[in-house]
Amino acid sequence: MKSFIVAITGASGSVYGLRLIEELLKSKCRVYMTASNEAFMIIKTETGADLSGKTEAEAEKNIQRHFSSKSIKYYSNTNLAAPISSGSFITDGMLVVPCSMKTLSGIANGYAGNLIERAADVCLKEGRTLLLSPREMPLNAIHLENMLKLARLGVKIAPPIPAFYQKPKSIKDIIDFVVGKIFDSIGVGHKLFKRWD
Ligand SMILES: Cc1cc2nc3c(=O)[nH]c(=O)nc-3n(C[C@H](O)[C@H](O)[C@H](O)COP(=O)(O)O)c2cc1C
Repeated sequence: MKSFIVAITGASGSVYGLRLIEELLKSKCRVYMTASNEAFMIIKTETGADLSGKTEAEAEKNIQRHFSSKSIKYYSNTNLAAPISSGSFITDGMLVVPCSMKTLSGIANGYAGNLIERAADVCLKEGRTLLLSPREMPLNAIHLENMLKLARLGVKIAPPIPAFYQKPKSIKDIIDFVVGKIFDSIGVGHKLFKRWD
């Protein structure tokens, strides 16, 4: 069974992260989820779902109910003692979807001030898969330099940019294309979009 850390940060496009988790769980992957405060707020604004909780345990209950799965474990972004904070806790890698410019900067500069940044820092130091889906527009030189720095370290930079050759008919088709491309990047099979043939 593959296992991935999935972090949702406070960029627009929280639906990509939620759909990604849904599909990972369907593919029988174990998911260790964390999210920033801004992410919880944006999830509620953009999808109507309130996944937050007063405690880590309460949020985990809401998240497990949302995904109808116990294969998802949740850790608060302030919980620097969570297992995913340590290199000795083995996973197949980490996906930050969507990734805000703030978290991108924190990771690029090794800040490790919260669980998301620390878990990403661990993936970097252990040489594990790290994929970021940065969302901002337009991008300034700071954003681009941070992305280039990370790409040179082997981080997969996978912005949520749809293609149209598969002729999407709905927003779901567009989301699934992006999630499918992320699955391709991490080597998990899927049937989320029709491949160019
Ligand atoms: C509705 C809304 C949408 C936002 N969209 C983005 C975005 O697409 N990209 C981005 O970098 N920041 C965006 N922000 C700003 C981030 O939420 C903000 O920089 C925050 O500090 C990020 O913190 P985090 O990385 O810990 O989640 C948005 C904020 C709000 C309220």
